[in-house]
Amino acid sequence: MPEPRLGHPHLGMGVGLRSAHYPHILQEQPDVDWFEIISENYMDSQGRPRYVLEQIAERYPIVMHGVSLSIGSTDPLNHEYLHRLKSLAESIDAQWISDHLCWTGVAGRNTHDLLPVPLTEATLRYVVERIRIVQDVLERPFVLENPSSYVTFACSEMPEWEFITRMAEEADCGLLLDVNNVYVSSVNHDFDPVEYIENVPHERIVQCHLAGHTNCGTHLIDTHDGQVIDPVWDLYRRAHQLTGGMSTLLEWDARIPAFPVVHAEVLKAKQYISDESDALDGMTERHAPDQTRPEQKADSLVAQTVVPHPAVLVETEVE
Ligand SMILES: [Fe+2]
Repeated sequence: MPEPRLGHPHLGMGVGLRSAHYPHILQEQPDVDWFEIISENYMDSQGRPRYVLEQIAERYPIVMHGVSLSIGSTDPLNHEYLHRLKSLAESIDAQWISDHLCWTGVAGRNTHDLLPVPLTEATLRYVVERIRIVQDVLERPFVLENPSSYVTFACSEMPEWEFITRMAEEADCGLLLDVNNVYVSSVNHDFDPVEYIENVPHERIVQCHLAGHTNCGTHLIDTHDGQVIDPVWDLYRRAHQLTGGMSTLLEWDARIPAFPVVHAEVLKAKQYISDESDALDGMTERHAPDQTRPEQKADSLVAQTVVPHPAVLVETEVE
């Protein structure tokens, strides 16, 4: 059996590094296992963000998470971007570099959204070829994340879990399993999130993402603006059982609370995996997508007055 996590280290429970927490982290040096950075927030900066990052990287393992690779775009790969990514990874000795299975723009325009790809044989061949090129350039472990999505393509030929599985195996890359994204997409597109989790190649899952989302009644939006809900924790527990444990990272990108609150949220993962056997009984029922029709949901749920746009997740921070 292949080695779990492709031989990459199990980093423990980490938190996404956000500028709002710089003072706390520098002063308090919290007992967090590792940090994940948004690569684009530091690639071009030689100012305070980069200075702070280098200080933090001296004490904590760092993983780089990008939002601009656009692996699924019809635009050529941006080699200048890749070399800047590689340079940052070398400077902080990043454990691995990740991005998303998506496209973010075309004709040189960046939409600042993570847009889904059609799940076809042709897309698969195209993406696999581009991942291989990216890995050759970066010369560092490369990992792709399953996106959350709000539309699907009529031309898709396979479920997302099958696409992700074949992509990872044929390109020989790692996977970042975002269990909140699985849940969000399962509700939006009416599929079984447990079937998804159970059918991805567990030995290739290098890392896991947890996050909160916004329930809009008719659909869910991956807003990263709150606590992780119980059905997502249940999916996490199932993924943990199947993988034998993954480096786990909490994303919190909007309405960000104080650092101890964010850290405490990811540490809940330890409770959820400490007694797997109890919780696994009957989990399929809890995980199953809500079968309530959208119009029923709209009637039964309180209308959201403010719905953050997903773009808030990909805009770079400005100091
Ligand atoms: Fe994520």
